Amino acid sequence: SVLEMEVEQIKKGDFDHFMKKEIHEQPGSLTTSMRGRLKNGIVGLGGLKDHMRTIRRSRRIIFIGCGTSYHAALAARPIMEELTDVPVTMEIASDMLDRKALIFKEDTAVFVSQSGETADTLHALEYALENGALCLGVTNTVGSTLARKTHCGVHINAGCEIGVASTKAYTCQIVVMVMIALAIGSDKLSTLAKREAIIAGLTKLPEQVRDVLKLDGEMKVLAQSLIDEQSLLMFGRGNNYATALEGALKVKEVALMHSEGMLAGEMKHGPLALVDEHLPIIVIATQDDSFSKQQSVIQQLHARKGRLIVMCSKGDASLVCPDGRSRVIEVPQVADCLQPIINIIPLQLLAYHLTVLRGYDVDQPRNLAKSVTTQ
Ligand code: AGP
Repeated sequence: SVLEMEVEQIKKGDFDHFMKKEIHEQPGSLTTSMRGRLKNGIVGLGGLKDHMRTIRRSRRIIFIGCGTSYHAALAARPIMEELTDVPVTMEIASDMLDRKALIFKEDTAVFVSQSGETADTLHALEYALENGALCLGVTNTVGSTLARKTHCGVHINAGCEIGVASTKAYTCQIVVMVMIALAIGSDKLSTLAKREAIIAGLTKLPEQVRDVLKLDGEMKVLAQSLIDEQSLLMFGRGNNYATALEGALKVKEVALMHSEGMLAGEMKHGPLALVDEHLPIIVIATQDDSFSKQQSVIQQLHARKGRLIVMCSKGDASLVCPDGRSRVIEVPQVADCLQPIINIIPLQLLAYHLTVLRGYDVDQPRNLAKSVTTQ
């Protein structure tokens, strides 16, 4: 109806689409996610404190989710292992059920879901509860089934997300899981300096996200050069393997363009055969422990005349692309575990512009629903 259309326009404010609005809301949603939880260098998560002893003693942490929520967990995995000293394994909810994966009462199962109503995730939760694991929920929806049925949990407080493509929930989920890692690991003296650096990084993060959002125009120009492509690859590794998978998911689901996120370490084991002067490839090569390995990936791709778009830290353009042949996206460098939050933003913007330029529906892509409540 006309009234419904007008209400929708009011909710979108100055933005043409919810996806664009939600991408640009991220400095604010990240601030809300952290509000009241970082006091005097200590992370306080009320929803976990009664279970902290059990979590610290668990034999394994299992991250469980679907789609973007799974990717957020994958982005937080390295820091969760580093700060807790507990091995972290990953499960896509449907696959966990298909395999009837082993899960024990000594496990802490972390369920990640924006809506808190995804059928596969909720079935995996039932299964984990039956097997006696401690179940922790990370959700954006107060009162959701996930929030009610888990033993404990943390709300991400990203604010209502309307676009089918998850954007601000993704970055807030990562921030919350980093805070969970900090809280679990807070009894370890050996990581004190590292934890302090991350907390300092978290407080600066919203401003840096605001900075990256200025790449909007540049990403529109990049999108323009890609509108007629059949396919787009994204190579990442380490902290930013998740960035490659999530960037590619955004491009598939809204721009309706084939896109694959790949582990750069796997390149030589097959994907390299795809490389030629036509196929566009985004390589994520921001500064962290994986940087020199990504530099050699770039060299190998150049040797095959690959058409590269390299994402690097500010000031590194000449390092990642000495001959000036590839396109470069420069982003601010932040703490390693927070870099995926910065790096996904240009890719969200790229997916958004590709979609609009290709003439597709950004907020409601064909065949998809915001929450998938059937199995
Ligand atoms: C994200 O852009 C997708 N629409 C989709 O992958 C989504 O993240 C997935 O369905 C899980 O949803 P949830 O977080 O509400 O559980």
